[in-house]
Amino acid sequence: MITPPPRVDAGIFQRVLDRMPDPAGRSEAAALESELATTFGAAHAVTVSSGTAALHTALVACGIGAGDEVLLPAATVMMTVAAVQESGAHPIFVDAAPGGGMDLHDLQSKITERTRAILAVHLGGRCDGVRELAALATHRRLMLIEDACQAQGSRHHGQLAGTMGDVGCFSLKDGKIYAAGEGGYLLTDDPVIAARAAAYRTHWSIPADGQAAGSRLGRNYRLPELSAALARHHLTGFETALARRRAQAALLVDLVGDLPGLQTIGSGAGEEPNGYSALWRLTLADPRAFAVHLVQAGVPNSVGSFGLCAASAHPACQALNPAPCPAAEHMIDHLLAVVLSAADTEQDLRIRAKTIQREATAWTQQTA
Ligand SMILES: Cc1ncc(COP(=O)(O)O)c(C=O)c1O
Repeated sequence: MITPPPRVDAGIFQRVLDRMPDPAGRSEAAALESELATTFGAAHAVTVSSGTAALHTALVACGIGAGDEVLLPAATVMMTVAAVQESGAHPIFVDAAPGGGMDLHDLQSKITERTRAILAVHLGGRCDGVRELAALATHRRLMLIEDACQAQGSRHHGQLAGTMGDVGCFSLKDGKIYAAGEGGYLLTDDPVIAARAAAYRTHWSIPADGQAAGSRLGRNYRLPELSAALARHHLTGFETALARRRAQAALLVDLVGDLPGLQTIGSGAGEEPNGYSALWRLTLADPRAFAVHLVQAGVPNSVGSFGLCAASAHPACQALNPAPCPAAEHMIDHLLAVVLSAADTEQDLRIRAKTIQREATAWTQQTA
């Protein structure tokens, strides 16, 4: 049974508006930060204006910049690459392992004297192999930053995604399991990273590292107070939202059932994914064209709707002169990640399942 999300009482916004301009500065965002830290078991949370801002701020707060190299999976979204480039560091793409995480042999072969960090991306809420990655990062004295924008509530061996490295980055964009329209946040146990992140997101006006306020250039990456109020409201319903998304993904996979051309992607050892998307591996002909065709038939998905493409093969990344990452490119080209939202009812999912069955069967027959 998929229960719809409760409606938001507009009174939560009036409380914020009545206080503007807020003499305390950032009352809602500050309250949200302590609630996020408590809810997700981190020592510090720093709110920012988006998931991309969270990634950029995390890199800067970890001291990463021009001349440095950051290892990240080729199987990622463009926002991760953009954040690394914005920090001034050079993104180095790592090929995919069969479980979907980074290929550790490829990763190790790409570590140089300039490598400063590994940026793990938990695409589709999956975080297979992140514990091994954390051990490797510690062993090689590299920072581990997690892009957990799609992985709120996912766990690996019981530990929450975004709390297994030095800093975890999250998006509050609508469509995420826990969202506020736009926004983002970082989680970290390191007080120095937290202080630098808070300073950077507010033009370095809050001093960090014992430096004077305004002694460095930062950004306005602040989370607006109205968004913070909405995020505080939704945080109280986080576990319900997580259970709903897991139920939606499981129901859709179940309704589609066994179908030639589609293999469900199961969880790896110790993995408890959040059900961010319903996931299949496509084994039918011309899978990218099929993904686009499904969007036209009413089934939104990452490749068809957003043009998801491995970064090593993405036109926007070719100026970075990336090495080919054939396994990641094949994996993304054959991925069907159906986009889910809190508003999707059981009826919506039944219609979508029938559409997938009908279109996959017709596609297989036409291309046989
Ligand atoms: C994996 C991943 N990283 C980063 C981002 C960027 O987040 P935002 O859109 O809030 O900047 C997203 C957003 O979709 C994402 O899915």
